[in-house]
Amino acid sequence: MAGQIPQRFIDDLLARVDVVEVVGERVTLKKAGRNHSGLCPFHQEKSPSFTVSADKQFYHCFGCGAHGNALRFLMEYDKLRFPEAVEQLAARLGMEVPREGADDPRAQAHERKRKEGVNLLELAGSYYRERLKMPEGEGARRYLAARGLSPEVQQAFAIGYAPAGWEALKGHLAERGISEAVQIEYGLLVHREESGRTYDRFRDRVMFPIRDIRGRTIAFGGRVLGDAKPKYLNSPETPVFHKGRELYGLFEARQANSRLERLVIVEGYMDVVALAQFGIRNAVATLGTSTSEEHLGRLFRMVGEVVFCFDGDQAGRQAAARALQAVLPQMIDGRQARFMFLPEGEDPDSLVRREGSGAFADRITCASPLSEFLFDHAAEGRDLATIESRERFASQVLSAIGKLPEGVLKSLLLTELSRRTGVAQSRFEALVAPGDVPEAEPARAARSERDTVPRTRPSRGGGSSGGALSLMGRVLQLLVHEPRLVSRLPEGGDWYPMQDPEAQLCHEVERLLRAGRYRSAQVLLAHFHGTPEGERLTELARRELLIPSEARAAELDGLVEHFRRYRLKPSHQEEVDALLSKQQRGERLSQEERQHLMELLTELKG
Ligand code: UTP
Ligand code: MN
Repeated sequence: MAGQIPQRFIDDLLARVDVVEVVGERVTLKKAGRNHSGLCPFHQEKSPSFTVSADKQFYHCFGCGAHGNALRFLMEYDKLRFPEAVEQLAARLGMEVPREGADDPRAQAHERKRKEGVNLLELAGSYYRERLKMPEGEGARRYLAARGLSPEVQQAFAIGYAPAGWEALKGHLAERGISEAVQIEYGLLVHREESGRTYDRFRDRVMFPIRDIRGRTIAFGGRVLGDAKPKYLNSPETPVFHKGRELYGLFEARQANSRLERLVIVEGYMDVVALAQFGIRNAVATLGTSTSEEHLGRLFRMVGEVVFCFDGDQAGRQAAARALQAVLPQMIDGRQARFMFLPEGEDPDSLVRREGSGAFADRITCASPLSEFLFDHAAEGRDLATIESRERFASQVLSAIGKLPEGVLKSLLLTELSRRTGVAQSRFEALVAPGDVPEAEPARAARSERDTVPRTRPSRGGGSSGGALSLMGRVLQLLVHEPRLVSRLPEGGDWYPMQDPEAQLCHEVERLLRAGRYRSAQVLLAHFHGTPEGERLTELARRELLIPSEARAAELDGLVEHFRRYRLKPSHQEEVDALLSKQQRGERLSQEERQHLMELLTELKG
């Protein structure tokens, strides 16, 4: 980490951010008087004792005592360290985090050391890339070509070659004045205690730099060209590299697509690179470890959906079961996890080469949703005809459900479990919180109220409710009435006038619909139930949609096209919207207003 973050910046940040918004993205909140309340994400509970105050800008749980401001919430909920939480809040406000420390020698030294490490690794990375082009890199070039990797992909992943000598890199770095101590610290040199000898860790290997999300090289993986052991060698833990936290390919995936929605988690370096070679550029690999909660936290901050990819053998099933346990606590509403299994004896690299990218992409599309895998896994090897095995099946599923945060998925799984076992859902509900005493009536009442799905009866007579809709309101209304239309929206979302709260809501709705868990309006509304956004959406759902169904897609396209063309400054956007909707309501614009509208539109179109 760099130097200290100035306190005044933190104060400024907290003054600008809204804790209700930050919490509300992760916990379903319901407005209750001046505050918002919901089920506490920090302990298991069935009736809401968690409140968030917009006035005071903090949250408090009367059940477990958790409390704090927006920063504290992010640290606890997303398991971030303080500076990371500050970075995240700042990023959402488009603010750059300043660092001080000119007056703090320790912070300065720390920062210098970090830079030194990163520079060193960059230097090593470019050395390896250079070597790959030299005559000594011939064997490695042949190897990479034999594995079907084009120069473009090799370049995108900055692949290089560590030459065969014992002191090649060491000599190169020494010439640049880099001490052996630093080279050892960052894992490039191995130091033998007994002999005091030092030598290059990576020799005669194809080198894969592991880069952090900002593209800085933080470690390496190296593969032998033949069958020698170990096949892959990774950098050890260093001040900048923690294996259990990093993923290979994340930076490259983001480079290839800055608006990622889904990431595929595979096992190996070669899988990531081979998939990229076949145009599937959103794969990442854990580094010889199983997927941790920390990995998943990181991925879900970037995308709404992760797809786990496993070998089809027994080891693969076991790895999948571990991944399931790691992902359950992360499954807040709007996130999706899916599981795919490859035919036995194949890995993504071999399969994509054999089947081609289309077939592999289909496999990704067809991967089992978490719910399906959860039930399949619990049913595996059990003959559900007997009561005993049904009981064990149910308790395995329940223990998984108990790990889920409160939300729509949890309710849906309980319903499904009840359907599959024929046992009333209420019996299970009392059991889902492990270690929790089953709650008595009042809590049950609060719960069932929360779970009520608002009804969406369209009002007769069309325009009876509310005034004319804003343009964004019309987009939302179309989506609420016909969720499948989401597929017509342009990917990437850059057409939204994001200053408009209605556009933010619309973007969120789009994200949820695309994530695929909200195919019906009812479930979508349930997601927002009890929030102001929920009220707005319910109102839109009740409004009769007067556009005939065959014209709706075109209507939506037209609206989006409008926003695309007139991506305006916030103040102008509002003015234009107001004028246009006035016109659409059939009111006459004055000469001045018409003139002004024209100016706004023509000025901002270019
Ligand atoms: P695999 O042995 O499945 O390798 O290891 P692979 O990806 O199919 O490699 P190729 O196709 O033979 O080149 C999967 C991952 O496990 C870690 C590496 O991260 C590797 O990518 N691993 C494997 C090691 O760290 N060391 C090893 O010796 C082997
Ligand atoms: Mn392989």
